[in-house]
Amino acid sequence: MAHHRRAELLSDRAALRTRMAAWRESHQIVALVPTMGALHEGHLSLVRLVAARADRLLVSIFVNPAQFTPSEDFSAYPRTLEADREKLGTAVDAIYCPPVADIYPADFVTSISLEGPATTGLEDRFRPTHFKGVATVVAKLFLQTTPHLAVFGEKDFQQLCVIRQMVRDLELPVNVVAAPTIREVDGLAMSSRNVYLSEAERAVAPLIYHTLTQCAERLRQGDEASRVLAEGVAILEKSGFSVDYLEWRQADTLLPATTIEQPTRVLVAARIGATRLIDNIAV
Ligand code: PAF
Repeated sequence: MAHHRRAELLSDRAALRTRMAAWRESHQIVALVPTMGALHEGHLSLVRLVAARADRLLVSIFVNPAQFTPSEDFSAYPRTLEADREKLGTAVDAIYCPPVADIYPADFVTSISLEGPATTGLEDRFRPTHFKGVATVVAKLFLQTTPHLAVFGEKDFQQLCVIRQMVRDLELPVNVVAAPTIREVDGLAMSSRNVYLSEAERAVAPLIYHTLTQCAERLRQGDEASRVLAEGVAILEKSGFSVDYLEWRQADTLLPATTIEQPTRVLVAARIGATRLIDNIAV
């Protein structure tokens, strides 16, 4: 039988500590790819992006309860550790998948409080405690794993901005690397939540990307933003989406954009059936 070579599994804090101490001692440059598992091509692209920049690659897999709001899919969120290990193969050196108690001991009460990009009325308007949960777990993962680099996908653009701001403000000694969004051939951004889509929903889902592309094109041509965005919402709603937001924002602060002289993004969140999809592109 073929023997599948796989990354080392670090299934608790103690195993992680031993491994990191050895890497540090031999002066290895370590890159962390933080994930919640249910890995797809998008995650693998994050790994590939930093492979050449680090001596050691570490993927963390932790479905973080603190970033789900009570109405969300925490218990239903796909947990596929064996398949994830298989997909990573030997592309990474180790996988850190701690139990909840190694991140949140029973008496854990501290969290990171955020403003700036975290309170710009995008995801935060619909998931009020989400970024507090993300920032707290990312800070803790950084402190546990002490990476030189950490990679985050542009797919979750507000998350990327929030983490960059936190790293700057707290001077966390981690180099944040942004990875471009990986898409299916029809344009749908890869996401672990795409598995929730029915066949009919999957068929209309690429409209999100097409709408973003059209909006960006029109904004580049100088069309009036409020009109462009309203028409984008109308197109999506006509095809059965409920649009939470479709916004044109500055790429660093996430404040409303007014000119294409600086980097800007169009960002969208829309629900189809029971699934909520987000996406964004540069203008
Ligand atoms: O983007 C994600 O998968 C998560 O938000 C992260 C960064 C791993 C924190 O739990």
